[in-house]
Amino acid sequence: MKKVLVAVCVLFGLWSTSMADEGADLFKKCAACHGAQGEKAALGKSKIIKDMSSAQIITALKGYKDGTYGAASKAIMKGQVASLNDAQITVLAAHISK
Ligand code: HEC
Repeated sequence: MKKVLVAVCVLFGLWSTSMADEGADLFKKCAACHGAQGEKAALGKSKIIKDMSSAQIITALKGYKDGTYGAASKAIMKGQVASLNDAQITVLAAHISK
């Protein structure tokens, strides 16, 4: 148990010291639909997310999670963001909008 805790702490430490890398890492699973730089309309339906501000992206991602945002294909995005916490959403938004 102790070993697991130490491993988790080490991992988390590495993560939080490299926020930029975490954003890139989290975005990998989004790139298939949104393009490597967020430059594509996902499945021909979404906005070009790299042109959105980080605040707009945060509103969208949190809204997909709690059902307050989205258009016809929002169920697809709900599945994408379900496992992300607020900190990860903030890091992702900063990565996409820059
Ligand atoms: C399976 C394809 C797919 C994946 C993977 C995916 N998205 Fe999306 N995304 C979509 C679609 C389709 C929409 C438009 C949904 C709707 O109708 O509201 C969308 C919408 C969005 C929007 C809002 C844009 C708008 O049109 O208002 C943001 C921001 C976004 N996605 C970010 C992400 C992020 C960040 C990830 C990775 C965690 C991700 N997406 C993964 C398909 C995908």
